[in-house]
Amino acid sequence: MSFKPITPAPARLQRSELSVPGSSPKFFEKAAKGDADVVFLDLEDAVAPEKKAEARKNIIQAIGDVDWGDKTLSVRINGLDTHYMYRDVVDLLENCSERLDLIMIPKVGTASDVYAVDMLVSQIERAKGRKKRIGFELIIETALGMQNIHEIAAASPRNESLHFGVADFAASTRAKITSIGGPNPNYGVLTDPEGPEKKRDFHWGDMWHYAIERMIVAARANGLRPIDGPFGDYSDPDGFKAHAWRASVLGCEGKWAIHPSQIALANEINNPPPAEVEKARRILVAMKAGEAAGQGAVALDGKLIDYASIRQAQHLVQLADTLAARAAARAG
Ligand code: GLV
Ligand code: MG
Repeated sequence: MSFKPITPAPARLQRSELSVPGSSPKFFEKAAKGDADVVFLDLEDAVAPEKKAEARKNIIQAIGDVDWGDKTLSVRINGLDTHYMYRDVVDLLENCSERLDLIMIPKVGTASDVYAVDMLVSQIERAKGRKKRIGFELIIETALGMQNIHEIAAASPRNESLHFGVADFAASTRAKITSIGGPNPNYGVLTDPEGPEKKRDFHWGDMWHYAIERMIVAARANGLRPIDGPFGDYSDPDGFKAHAWRASVLGCEGKWAIHPSQIALANEINNPPPAEVEKARRILVAMKAGEAAGQGAVALDGKLIDYASIRQAQHLVQLADTLAARAAARAG
């Protein structure tokens, strides 16, 4: 390990994050009763300009009135380039109850964007005597944000997670795609001709791989959770799953659901598989026994494991234990 310690963000379950437009309060109760680990009430791109003020009021009221259970509750404010953002923050934090956990900042471009919101939030918290410190979720969805991602990730102790906003990122980089998430059939490789028939295959590629991986590295290097953003076609569960899997495999901890039907899929994919948890527990036991016998590396099921295996296993076991503790708390 480096001499520089990485302080992890406060632990939270974030396997799924449901977005709900602030201008549609009829969806709030259902969102609160659903299975998403995090709900974010939106003031930004799912709300038309003439509905912004009304959406703010709906959200402020619902934060206090709706029973959000043990969910993490977040509000997506408007971007710093708009004239809505300061009032989003001021109205929200001056008036909403202490139930709010997080603010999501969209289109973060520089570390100073985070600093500016932090300053505003800190002043209001102090002036109003708010007790719970609000954390930040940051959407990386512009070329500028991706360029400055490491400084952004380190910009505030309030930072908890980075999110890949694939739709705005495509717009910002002028990627040739109009769907939200998913592949483009023109992004791929053609194999060399093979055999007497000179057969060639075309393999589709993942055009978002670099962006997702870069976000994961920046998040993890700063103790934050990397979260994959939206997949727009909610009538395509297989497409959602494939999209969510490749982010999860690389290290993302969760994924957005832009429709309630995507919540269960996101939870399922980001759940620790029971067989792997069981194996992780056996790794921890085997390594402890090995250490007691003076060995740093031991064999388990015919394969070598060492101290790196402990660190991998611990993450899985921790997530499984957190989920079990929550299930026990819910059962009373
Ligand atoms: C999310 O905000 C996105 O732009 O994909
Ligand atoms: Mg966006």
